[in-house]
Parts: sequence; structure tokens; C-alpha cells
Amino acid sequence: MLATEKAVGVSSELMERVFEARRRSDELFNLVRPDSLYERPIPERHRIIFYVGHLEAFDWNLLSGNAFALASAHPKLDRLFAFGIDPVGGGLPADVPSDWPAVDAVRAYVRSVRGALDKNLENALFETRLPTRDGFPLPTLLNVAIEHRLMHVETLAYMLHRLPPDMKAQPEDQAKAANLRISLAHRMVSVPAGTATLGLSRGSETFGWDNEYEAHTVEVPAFEIDRYKVTNQQYLDFMAAGGYETRAYWSDNDWSWKTAQGISHPLFWKKDGNRWLWRTMFGAVPLPLDWPVYVSHAEAAAYTRWVGKSLPTEAQWQRAAYGTVEGEERAYLWGNEPPNPTRGNFDLERWDPVAVNSFPKGQSAFGVDDMLGNGWEWTSTVFGPFPGFEPFPFYRGYSADFFDGKHFVMKGGSARTAACMLRPTFRNWFQAHYQYVYAGFRCVSR
Ligand code: AVJ
Ligand code: FE
Repeated sequence: MLATEKAVGVSSELMERVFEARRRSDELFNLVRPDSLYERPIPERHRIIFYVGHLEAFDWNLLSGNAFALASAHPKLDRLFAFGIDPVGGGLPADVPSDWPAVDAVRAYVRSVRGALDKNLENALFETRLPTRDGFPLPTLLNVAIEHRLMHVETLAYMLHRLPPDMKAQPEDQAKAANLRISLAHRMVSVPAGTATLGLSRGSETFGWDNEYEAHTVEVPAFEIDRYKVTNQQYLDFMAAGGYETRAYWSDNDWSWKTAQGISHPLFWKKDGNRWLWRTMFGAVPLPLDWPVYVSHAEAAAYTRWVGKSLPTEAQWQRAAYGTVEGEERAYLWGNEPPNPTRGNFDLERWDPVAVNSFPKGQSAFGVDDMLGNGWEWTSTVFGPFPGFEPFPFYRGYSADFFDGKHFVMKGGSARTAACMLRPTFRNWFQAHYQYVYAGFRCVSR
């Protein structure tokens, strides 16, 4: 263990955030009826029960060694629940429910890990200097634990979305409905040539993951960008024009995937006689035409070819979101005020999307709507390291395992993205054929 200069203790605020994140993940698992916890709603992923253990195993594996020198009471479970699975390549997992420990054992593990960690964290509350390995102070590790959990709170929602409604208990205060209608969906906004800052500087006080460093600027030539995310209505037009059947709109790889899987519409849609329904978290509703369409990267790219446009690069997206005519960049789309529910559909306020024009107060300086929340946005940028990238020594694979040319950067956020991850430098990623994400897109043209 290496003592460091920067090492600092834990504030009670940070502890509150740990508890709040746990409350969010508990709430999610409580949606699942107990006899459905061993379901596997996404064939490429683990059964739900894995994630109950994973969130605690992750915290334990991260903190017990790197922050506190603690011996484990359940080394087997720490390993069993250590890693999720990446859906790229390989066959589908073939484990059966009885391969996993019983719910009671998993719940006991959760309680035991939390108990042990909390005792140590409470002690850390009164310390001002705590040695940690590799120069990463305890608050950084806690931010990793918090955001790791909150990212799973979102990706678990993708998973529970696939679970039939009768396996879920709907919470009381669900539907906050949308109501706006639009006729302006095709509008584009001009963004003049200028620079975009990508990434976080090492000196910054803000927490960021390894892939957010180092900060650098990119020159972005002038371009036009859709004012709104592409809506279900617009995607319906693409389908009516034979979008899924027209070879020219698809890359070779995407075409083979689409054909092999027999995909002919967005995963969130389902046909009911001759009308389309949208599968919300708790049941199907007639297709809301002014909601953003949620599709995979492959389906988004096909649409952009149909309209003769393309997906924005990460730098174009960043400039449209944070740039200003005067040249300096803002901390949030709308200025410097932190996110609140009038600015967008995010921070777990709702389970599902709303109309794309619901938040005029969330507009960027260039007049682009809905860039934070209401669905991540696919970019054309392949997920990779920024110049100066260094993996976190305590979690080397978090990003680097995905620098394989198959994952694309997503920006923005969804209804289920916690506010802390709405910072400009946060980068999300998924592979091009992953349809389960709360993600849509908008187009750019030159
Ligand atoms: C950053 C959301 C793509 O869920 O695959 C959670 C986050 N990594 N546990 C994912 C993550 C390990 C990751 N994403
Ligand atoms: Fe994880």
C-alpha cells in the first residue's frame, strides 16, 4: 500500500450518495416478483439474481483491498458475482437456475457485505487522510462504486423492460405521461464551425471514469443537426419506405445480423393486429408517435442512409450540445445550473420516454432539444481511448476491454440515467447490434 498526498476522507454527502444509489438498486430488484428472480430476460446476459449479488461483490472487490485491508467472509461469492458478461461474440450462456445460490443466501451476502463496508466507511468519515493504493483517494473509489451501481440501475431497467408485466410489481407513482404533439420533427439547426472540448482534465475536481481522460479540443467544421431526436413517426415512415428490406441502407455486417435475426422493427415495438404498440416498462400502449424511437446502432445507421444523412460524430454531438456562438462551452446544455426535472427526462423521474419536444428549458445554446435524457444518442464514433488514456489500476478492464472496434459511443442519457452521469464528459458505449438499450439518435448533414 502506498500512502499519497491527496488522500482524503469520506464526506457524509458521499455516504448519502452511496445509500441513495443502494435505495435505487433495491427499488429495482423489488419490482421483480420473487419467483421471477431467476429469469433471464435478455438471452445474452446473466439471470437477474446474478445482478443482486454483483452490485455488492463489485463494491467489496473494489473497496476491501484498495481502501481497507479486509478479509472476506465469502470469497466464493465475491468471485461468482465479480463480472457480468459482454454480449459480443461467443454463444449464449447455458447455466440453469439451480447453478445459482438461493435468494436467501444472496440476500444474506448483500447484507453482510454492506454491513462490513459500512462499518469501515463510517470510520473513514472521521479521518482526513487515508492511504489508498495507486494514489486514488477513497472518494474516487466511492464514486466508482456509486456510478457502477447507478449504471446497472439503468441497464437492469433494460433487462426488466423485457420481463413480462405479470412478473413485475408496478410501483405506485409510475406514469408521468407526456402530452405534447409535434409537427416540427424534421427541423435542423445550423452549428457553425468551431471547437469542441472532449474529455476531462486530470486536474479537474470532477469525478470521471478512465475513458473520460485526457481533455483535448477538436476542430469541428460547420454542420446541421436535427433539432429533435428521430421520432417513432419518422421511423414508421422509414419502415413504410421499405427500410428494413433495402440492402443499400445497411452495412454488410448489419445486414447479415438483421437478416439472421429476422429483425423487421424496433425491439420496443410490437404488432397488435394492424396497429403498432410500444412496450413500456409496465405494459403496452398505442405507439406514441412523438416519442424518440429506440433502436440499435445498426437500425439507426440504416435510417440515416435512407434520409441521406449520417449519425453525428462524438465531437459534433459535443459541439451541438455544449458549444456557443461566442465560443466558450457550457457545463450543461442550458447553462451552468445543475440538472433539475424541468430540463429533461432523466434522473429516474420516469420509467419511459416522453415526447421529444417536452423540455424547451433543456435546449442547447444552438437550439437543439432533448440532448440530455429521454434516450441516449448513438454517435458514429467507435469507442476508443482519448489521447493520454490510462486504465484505472484498480479496474483495468472497465473501458479497455471494449476498445475492440465493435462498440460505439453513446451520449446524453435516458430517463433512467442518474443525474451524476449527465456531465459533458461521460461516455457510454454498446455494440452495434444491442437492441435493448434506451437509445435513439438524431441525424447530421453537412
Ligand atoms: C458503461 C453501461 C456500457 O453495463 O456494460 C457495469 C457499465 N461495466 N459493470 C455496461 C458497467 C461493468 C457498462 N456500460
Ligand atoms: Fe458491473
